[in-house]
Amino acid sequence: MSSTTHVVSLSNIQKTFVTRHFFQLDEDTHKRQIYRKRVVNAAMNVSFGIRRGEIFGLLGPNGAGKTTTVKMISGLVKPDGGVVEVEGMDVERWRHRILQRVGVVLEGTRTSIWPLTPLENLAYYGNLKNVTGKRLFERSHELLDFIGLKDQKNVQVRYLSRGQKQKLAICIALIADPQVLLLDEPTTGLDVQSSRSIKDKIIQMTREQGKSVLVTTHDMHVAQELCDRVGIINHGELVACKTTEELLTLFSDQQFEFRVDREPAAGRFQEIRGVREVSTTLSADGAVLTVRLVREPDKRSAALYEIVSTLHGDGYRLLGVNQHQESLESVFLQLTGPGPKR
Ligand SMILES: Nc1ncnc2c1ncn2[C@@H]1O[C@H](COP(=O)(O)OP(=O)(O)OP(=O)(O)O)[C@@H](O)[C@H]1O
Ligand SMILES: [Mg+2]
Repeated sequence: MSSTTHVVSLSNIQKTFVTRHFFQLDEDTHKRQIYRKRVVNAAMNVSFGIRRGEIFGLLGPNGAGKTTTVKMISGLVKPDGGVVEVEGMDVERWRHRILQRVGVVLEGTRTSIWPLTPLENLAYYGNLKNVTGKRLFERSHELLDFIGLKDQKNVQVRYLSRGQKQKLAICIALIADPQVLLLDEPTTGLDVQSSRSIKDKIIQMTREQGKSVLVTTHDMHVAQELCDRVGIINHGELVACKTTEELLTLFSDQQFEFRVDREPAAGRFQEIRGVREVSTTLSADGAVLTVRLVREPDKRSAALYEIVSTLHGDGYRLLGVNQHQESLESVFLQLTGPGPKR
């Protein structure tokens, strides 16, 4: 993966964690003994890149490895193998430089200091990242105006709402004007308005300033609305990495609905080569036969002909044919299964 086209690039990243399960020996002393160790794959040969001015979404079920990936890009967690580069620099080698170039907001962490005000927080974090004096003053006010915290800039963070704290965390991540912004679950737990406003700001910033943004999310609507491309990660493995439209098209191609005058016998169609799954549903004016086909175009075409000729041969009246339109949520479930497998 070339680092000239990608601002962030991950090549063959590996990361495993060893988790220890404890066995409680004594209820009074609370002494514990390790009784089982388990190796968890948080990244297995993960490779992808993020371009300038692009919003990349990393989707995956709980425990898939999203936060770990964000931490590896920002240099907070060291991969066991592979290379992470930001603007062509190896993150492991140039960690101190990367800190200036990458802004990160981790999920559910209390980044901001609650007894301080938003302005004081930005001064504190600005100083840590060598942003001082006039630059700090201008940048802090500019960011708070941009994100919509102008009226709260002198209020102690403890009195801010969850959405306002999240907006402040984004400002803190942006204080040194990094080229790359990593947002771990930026809208989780926020109401519709706060979520909308954060999404709008992310889009505006990416388009106007050409930043590269990585967003992890569980929310398929967020991904569909916000992301130019998405990567789907499951048990540490990147199972898909495409533009949102490509993903939807790829899966929509596979499922067809045949509206017929009476309920068809599903078994007849299950036997056809190229058919993966068959289901039937009854409707007021007949029934719908839904078939999921294989991906290969030639086999799919042959299967479609055979389905139509079987319907014809068995005397069904064909009332209509639809190509099923997939949602990102259904694509996600097909790629990752209905829930965590462990
Ligand atoms: N420091 C750690 N020590 C041991 N195991 C860890 C550590 N950090 C993460 N893991 C494990 O690695 C796996 C991936 O965790 P990660 O936090 O990256 O998942 P995630 O995709 O962000 O999940 P979620 O959607 O719940 O936030 C999990 O099984 C987790 O238990
Ligand atoms: Mg996470």
